[in-house]
Amino acid sequence: MNLDAYKILAEPFYQPVGDEIAVFEAAFAERLPVMLKGPTGCGKTRFIEHMAWRLKKPLVTVAAHEDMTASDLAGRYLLEPDGTVWHDGPLTIAVRHGAICYLDEIVEARQDTTVVIHPLTDTRRILPLEKHNEIVPAHADFQLTISYNPGYQSAVKDLKESTKQRFLAIDFGYPPPAVEAAIVAREAGTDVDLAGTLVAIAERSRNLQGHGLDEGASTRMLIHAGRLVRAGLPLEAAVRSSIVLPITDNHDIREALSAAIEACIP
Ligand SMILES: Nc1ncnc2c1ncn2[C@@H]1O[C@H](COP(=O)(O)OP(=O)(O)OP(=O)(O)O)[C@@H](O)[C@H]1O
Ligand SMILES: [Mg+2]
Repeated sequence: MNLDAYKILAEPFYQPVGDEIAVFEAAFAERLPVMLKGPTGCGKTRFIEHMAWRLKKPLVTVAAHEDMTASDLAGRYLLEPDGTVWHDGPLTIAVRHGAICYLDEIVEARQDTTVVIHPLTDTRRILPLEKHNEIVPAHADFQLTISYNPGYQSAVKDLKESTKQRFLAIDFGYPPPAVEAAIVAREAGTDVDLAGTLVAIAERSRNLQGHGLDEGASTRMLIHAGRLVRAGLPLEAAVRSSIVLPITDNHDIREALSAAIEACIP
């Protein structure tokens, strides 16, 4: 099978914040599984796209969800005109043909689904396809990366210890202000001054984390605000619709956030 469709041809812009590129390169060299941890919109998906491009490996992305079954990952028989035909699932495609498989939001999946990755993420490096009566040894280039938002876990929704302990981890967070402003300016196409103001606004919202907000404004939200300004909207209106309104439904928190934001606008 040709994985060209999964190759990333143009460099995805990724601004490193720490040693994450070196850590991932070392992990990949050893084909160790990696967990990208961090809040929403802080660059996890962009990072794995950049790394797949950098390492010149195809990237197969799977968004995990509650109803995802092991068959959704591994594959299933489908009825076709000439009878039933086996179709590899996205995980099996990556394992068999040698891609990086990115399992996004792994905690969303049920634990009985998550365990299919266990024999792949220890020294066995195999994927047993029970329904197909086959054991697929992982291709030399296969590597598994998952994402995990530590804020969302609960007693019922968390990774099993035996899953967690198979992975290396890289922490993602909000970058230092000057770095984040450079990212926002580049991604939204705004000047650095405006990006700096947006980052200051984000910091106010991040201070409200745990005091009414589950999470502060993400880098993604700041980029949205910057793009609205570039499209001609005044900054106040842009920030309101890209940050204040999406982030909370609570009237009092919206007021508090708006007041804090006003103080940042020059
Ligand atoms: N370090 C970075 N370098 C370049 N762009 C970044 C960086 N961090 C964030 N971004 C920008 O922020 C946007 C959101 O990042 P991304 O989609 O990777 O978030 P995520 O961590 O995968 O979020 P989620 O958990 O919601 O999937 C990206 O599209 C990109 O524009
Ligand atoms: Mg993502």
